[in-house]
Amino acid sequence: MSISNDLGAPSIEQYLHTQAHKSLLRFITCGSVDDGKSTLIGRLLYESKMLFEDQLATLAADSKSVGTQGDDLDFALLVDGLSAEREQGITIDVAYRFFATEKRKFIVADTPGHEQYTRNMVTGASTADVAVILIDARQGLLTQTRRHSYLVSLLGIRKIVVAINKLDMLDYSQEVFERIAHDYRAFAQRIGLDDIVCIPISALRGDNITTPSTNTPWYRGPVLIDYLDSVSIAGDMPTDPFRFPVQWVNRPNSEFRGYSGRIVGGSVRPGDRLRVLPSGKEATVARIVTQDGDLDLASNGQSVTLTLNEQIDISRGDVLCSTSDPAGVADQFEATIIWMSEEEMLAGRPCLLKIGAKTVSATLAPPKYKINVNTLEHLASKTLELNEIGVCTITLDQPISFDAYTQNRDMGGFILIDRISNNTIAAGLLHFALRRSQNIHWQAIEIDKRAHAALKGQRPAVLWFTGLSGAGKSTIANLVEKKLHALGRHSYLLDGDNVRHGLNKDLGFTDADRVENIRRVSEVAKLMVDAGLIVLVSFISPFRAERQMARELLDRGEFCEVFIDTPIAEAERRDPKGLYKKARRGDLKNFTGIDSPYETPEHPEIRIDTTTISSEDAAERIVAHLVANGVLLQA
Ligand code: ADX
Repeated sequence: MSISNDLGAPSIEQYLHTQAHKSLLRFITCGSVDDGKSTLIGRLLYESKMLFEDQLATLAADSKSVGTQGDDLDFALLVDGLSAEREQGITIDVAYRFFATEKRKFIVADTPGHEQYTRNMVTGASTADVAVILIDARQGLLTQTRRHSYLVSLLGIRKIVVAINKLDMLDYSQEVFERIAHDYRAFAQRIGLDDIVCIPISALRGDNITTPSTNTPWYRGPVLIDYLDSVSIAGDMPTDPFRFPVQWVNRPNSEFRGYSGRIVGGSVRPGDRLRVLPSGKEATVARIVTQDGDLDLASNGQSVTLTLNEQIDISRGDVLCSTSDPAGVADQFEATIIWMSEEEMLAGRPCLLKIGAKTVSATLAPPKYKINVNTLEHLASKTLELNEIGVCTITLDQPISFDAYTQNRDMGGFILIDRISNNTIAAGLLHFALRRSQNIHWQAIEIDKRAHAALKGQRPAVLWFTGLSGAGKSTIANLVEKKLHALGRHSYLLDGDNVRHGLNKDLGFTDADRVENIRRVSEVAKLMVDAGLIVLVSFISPFRAERQMARELLDRGEFCEVFIDTPIAEAERRDPKGLYKKARRGDLKNFTGIDSPYETPEHPEIRIDTTTISSEDAAERIVAHLVANGVLLQA
């Protein structure tokens, strides 16, 4: 028997296959071990006969030896064993557990309950239809209960079961149950949750889990399993508008061309007219192809290949939509951002945004506000830290097709990925497109870069000097500019200290401010290149990501990174402005190389070691490089 789920049951695939005719409900359990979450999940698995004889024997023996539950089986042992293993690892993930009843099959997302695991909860909740929120009746509503409920509502779960647990320890008090239920409903209303069922339970003793308990004769509502068996599952309404992100263009031979993916909204039939977004072209569905033959109808959740009557240009990441109610297309949005990286958010730093099968480049503006998930207050902030949630404007480098997250979780939910480490750094929920993005168009200018450059008789370029403070960037850049000038070239030197007196005088030396400092100067350098100039940029520019961004703003061959490589000891010995001394005394915070990082260039076009070569020789070498690369040729 392959052990692919936690309980040594048949493999998930085999198991799900035997359950194929049943509908699937995904739910998430929220609460901590102390609330009885593991016991509840263990009990559900036990009651649904997902445990086997040998496991039960082990469980009975373990329960006795642990001895905390008398003769009762300690179901928490089943699940906690696994949690302990998981928590030793660096990545604490979501555990998915499977069980089934006569009517339905279930996937339970079990996420660690502590505050620092918001990101796991987000992962688990983003695909769940229902949330089971556990409350320890002895404790009532906790901060954690509020936080979990807020996240669940944010992620689009509308159906909530509040399992008020451990009532056996309070003599099954109706009064306690009703007080907690009342408190919960009052809170839930504030966050827009109204489909709430409160159930008095004891996960340990099994009250109201599968059968009505004689201990709570005053309770008339459903027991937990009946609720999960019968609750209607949102999102698979065939009347929803059709949405089909193309994951793969399937072209095995010259005759067949199909578009493969999973339907994430509505349904489709052969003959339906569809619109392709973002291009806006239209076509008619010819066939719905699957491994088991063609279909007359396919709907939400099904993976299919569509063929079309017309040959039109469609690529991976495009979305096929109903023509009567198509998705939107835009490149700038307001979105809720859930920050998941240990490193704080740096507004202005480009990252990758992945939505459906599409990945584009994106930049976040500083948060409009962040949300205190315990009190729901809106707080001013320039950044977001691990597990924080805020609302930001996000700008993409190209339009995508989307729906608001509240309309369609697949079409409005995205993740952000760091371009250098490839780690997921945030999850996001699109609210709406900003009209600004539709109303600002690029103005075509007839006197373009080529024309400007031609008049000056030169090829524009950026010489980007990077290095520590006191490395000699400005000295060398100055000498280079003098040589260019003598050669009759049109140039301009942008120097950090000078630009910080004007355009960037609102910026300091935090990581976030340095990112913005470099973003602005990159844009200015790009404009100057458009004006046909040879631009010398002399900024510490300590981060690889921003130097890469500057490079990518320009055309190939226009950007030349010059690393002024002076060891910190040498820069500190020179200390031309006395700043190292100040920083060592503690009078200057965030000083590069001391308590603020400098990321060494990996592949600069030019590296100057100022301990072995004079500034004059360095300038000669740089000019020689420009000559060798044709920059100083007549345009
Ligand atoms: S950058 O890191 O954002 O690229 P920039 O080149 O604009 O820095 O400015 C660096 C100059 O500001 C230094 O040459 C130095 O004169 C001055 N300065 C003042 N405070 C700091 C600091 N904390 N870290 C580095 N440079 C500082």
